[in-house]
Amino acid sequence: MSQIQLCNISKSFQGSFVFKNVDLKGEAGQIIAIRGKSGVGKSTLLNIIAGLELPTSGSYQLDDINMVEKNINELSRIRGEKIGYISQFSPMVPNLTAFENICIPLLLIKQNDDVTDSRMKRIEELSKLFEIQDLLHKKVNKLSGGEIQRVGIIRSLVNEPSIIVADEPTGSLDDETSSNILDYFHTLKLEGILIILATHSKMVSDHSDIVYNLTKDGLILEK
Ligand SMILES: Nc1ncnc2c1ncn2[C@@H]1O[C@H](COP(=O)(O)OP(=O)(O)O)[C@@H](O)[C@H]1O
Ligand SMILES: [Mg+2]
Repeated sequence: MSQIQLCNISKSFQGSFVFKNVDLKGEAGQIIAIRGKSGVGKSTLLNIIAGLELPTSGSYQLDDINMVEKNINELSRIRGEKIGYISQFSPMVPNLTAFENICIPLLLIKQNDDVTDSRMKRIEELSKLFEIQDLLHKKVNKLSGGEIQRVGIIRSLVNEPSIIVADEPTGSLDDETSSNILDYFHTLKLEGILIILATHSKMVSDHSDIVYNLTKDGLILEK
């Protein structure tokens, strides 16, 4: 179980502000959606939450960790332990199979045989659920965009994160597959996972507990 609290977060690139004064609190078992115009900083904000980027100013507490004091290596370890990151264009190693790409996060944390067994079982279950079980041993450069997106989602879930950060996770998926993924997010929510996502989709917002609109001056509560 995890919780996050961001206070007064601002981010600028080369001196120009993308957004200022973002406050956000997220608790175990919530699905939080962030909407907003293209270029308003949704991906930047999610990158900060995922520990992929640091804010220009403000504070960010993840459980008992002060995230703005951590260096890149520490953030990457924290991500490996706690955070599953899903993006619309999941980066893949093209010459590896879908299964090998899914297993990459397993290299980042210590495993024993029991853990490995349970992770393998999880990969099998999720591959069936997202209908890619017959594609696992194909090289990812032979897969379609939607198939790669599902491989990316499974990869982000394999280490059983307590927080999922998803940047337009259904962006290249049809309605039926999107709906499967949203149903699965709902199952994770009931298990106490915190899910924060950026989206343009009404279907995704409708499935979220809390919906914010990101503007230059911070987050505005919509639902
Ligand atoms: N690494 C970066 N360097 C400079 N500008 C960036 C960088 N990352 C994002 N930006 C700028 O920040 C703004 C917000 O981008 P982004 O977070 O991708 O928005 P959104 O996801 O809402 O479309 C854009 O103007 C983008 O060009
Ligand atoms: Mg974006």
